[in-house]
Amino acid sequence: MPQQLIFVTNNAHKIEEVAAKIGDQFDILSLDAIGFAGDIEETGTTFHVNASIKSQTIYQQFKLNCFGDDSGLEVMALNGEPGVYSARYAGEHGNHDANIDKVLKNLEGKTDRRARFITVISLILDGKEYFFEGTVEGTIRRERFGAKGFGYDPIFQPDGYDITFAEMTMEEKNSISHRARALEKMVGFLKQQ
Ligand code: IMP
Repeated sequence: MPQQLIFVTNNAHKIEEVAAKIGDQFDILSLDAIGFAGDIEETGTTFHVNASIKSQTIYQQFKLNCFGDDSGLEVMALNGEPGVYSARYAGEHGNHDANIDKVLKNLEGKTDRRARFITVISLILDGKEYFFEGTVEGTIRRERFGAKGFGYDPIFQPDGYDITFAEMTMEEKNSISHRARALEKMVGFLKQQ
């Protein structure tokens, strides 16, 4: 009988990706599925704190095993910006086009284009919290390439490739992404339980 595990998100794409990776030992449920309709504010200044806010909020209310994730882009020459503010770097939440413009503008004239995506997962299992981290290193291109994916994908080229995330198929991106790597660590851990 699969154990229930809440993923603190309503993003159907994320749920699907996790469910595919996790196998049949766990039954992944979204916030909708458990009837949580509230807003969880990401008020932290680190990925760890924001991921933890998500999982702790749900654990405190439902006392169910659950996990939350938080991701973003860190650009070396910008001292780690946009970081935890990745979704709202240019002001308005989720305006990816404006966010990309701001990164490109802030990098004008800089030769160091190194960047990385990071995902931190906070898992609460039987009341105990565990963290898993995944990263993918790369560089920021000088303009946009590709139309797939979301967020900063059109300007992020992972090391070892000559195309951006937005030029990759979803399968290709999901095989090397920060989110996939963090997830794989969590799944490896869960399978040992
Ligand atoms: P979230 O924590 O997964 O919602 O990610 C926060 C923000 O980081 C997103 O709104 C994007 O701006 C950026 N981001 C996270 N993961 C990716 C990715 O795989 N590609 C492009 N942008 C991403």
